[in-house]
Amino acid sequence: MERLIVKGGTRLQGTIPVSGCKNAVLPIAVAAAILGDGVSVLHNVPNLTDVKTLSAVLEGLGATTKIKKSSLYIEPINHLEYEAPYELVRKMRASIYVLGPLVAKLGKAKVSFPGGCAIGPRPIDLHIRGLEHLGAEVTVESGYIYAQAKRLVGTEMYLMGPHGPSVGATANIMMAATLAEGTTVIRGAACEPHISDLARFLNAMGADIEGIGTSVLTIHGVKQLRGTEHTVISDDIEAGTFIVASAITRGDVYVKGITPQQIPAISEKLTEAGVELDWDDNGVRVTTPREIRGIDVTTEPFPGFPTDMQAQIMGLLCLASGTSIIMENVHTDRYIHAAELNRMGADIMLDGSKAVINGVGRLSGAPVMASDLRAGAVLVAVGMAAIGETIVSRVYHIDRGYESIEEKLNNVGANIKRVTDNGEET
Ligand code: UD1
Repeated sequence: MERLIVKGGTRLQGTIPVSGCKNAVLPIAVAAAILGDGVSVLHNVPNLTDVKTLSAVLEGLGATTKIKKSSLYIEPINHLEYEAPYELVRKMRASIYVLGPLVAKLGKAKVSFPGGCAIGPRPIDLHIRGLEHLGAEVTVESGYIYAQAKRLVGTEMYLMGPHGPSVGATANIMMAATLAEGTTVIRGAACEPHISDLARFLNAMGADIEGIGTSVLTIHGVKQLRGTEHTVISDDIEAGTFIVASAITRGDVYVKGITPQQIPAISEKLTEAGVELDWDDNGVRVTTPREIRGIDVTTEPFPGFPTDMQAQIMGLLCLASGTSIIMENVHTDRYIHAAELNRMGADIMLDGSKAVINGVGRLSGAPVMASDLRAGAVLVAVGMAAIGETIVSRVYHIDRGYESIEEKLNNVGANIKRVTDNGEET
């Protein structure tokens, strides 16, 4: 296993390019491999372990995938398998995306039930309910979800869960509905930019989806989808992470390849905290000339403040003046990183889904552990501004969602080394 050794006291200065959006690539690759007839080519694909894991899942189902620089070639499945086994699905929850498309294309699917993870139990009842609305018969037995339907039939459904819309269920059901008979209306659909990117990709394949970017998606079923070429949108969360990292180190960084429309709540909250964001057509210059102010943040589905940026903004607020409150409304117990930040000298108190953060001005380096990919990113970010050295273990979490994180940060003034557990540099 590898660790990152982050030297503190650095200030970021320069340009950081944003990679393609992980959470867009995953369902798009599934759609290309299972729903399409003919080769698809995806551009702007980040080099991440999650993309490799998904490619392995798709190869397991019979597809051929090839990655060349940042383009992913996907040849769909001629002789499609309908089973996604536990050994592959357990590595990545997003493998559940194959469920809807397999039923739509083959009339049946057997997909391992994904487990919980460090950010909570993460149920899939909405995925199942959505498929049942489309006429599938779904059972759960011995750790597997079995779903079957001769042909899915379009219908109206309300797909909202107790914590709002579900990104995963919206993607799954939207993909399944493209090949259903008749029209499907999903009310309470997730509006995240990566859901819109998936919908645009499906339309380019020949699907007929209306209401893209809104909470009501209307999907007119078609008989067949073809392969196509698509450039994946840039990663809003990666961009948000670099913007916060710049603010944490009081740097002067141009984050290239992001638009204000992709990160409205992140921009708003950082501005409220005193971070200056100067947008142009290609990206944003981030400077932090004044003290960071404590603010209150509530995580919500898009266009609200994303749960995937909660850990990062918590890291920034540890260094703010005054007290901040975070309410985590999406993954209500996603706070393992708080204990790690406290080990570095932060003052964070947890009370259920609420975190109270008293700003401390400065953190000090310590050995810490990445519990999920965003939690890992914040430890690297605060480590760069801390006194002394921070050793972040379980780096594989970070590699799931950040392409060459140390390379991108070292290029703008960080001092981060990747070492193996026995201390050898990699
Ligand atoms: C996706 C993202 C993840 C992000 C999350 C919320 C991917 C690969 N992952 O995860 O990074 O944190 O969106 O923006 O895109 N829920 C149910 N029943 C369900 C499904 C979800 O109750 O069947 C609940 C969840 O427990 C959670 C909320 O709905 O409280 C939102 O979850 P969801 O949007 O589905 O998250 P994912 O798609 O798993």
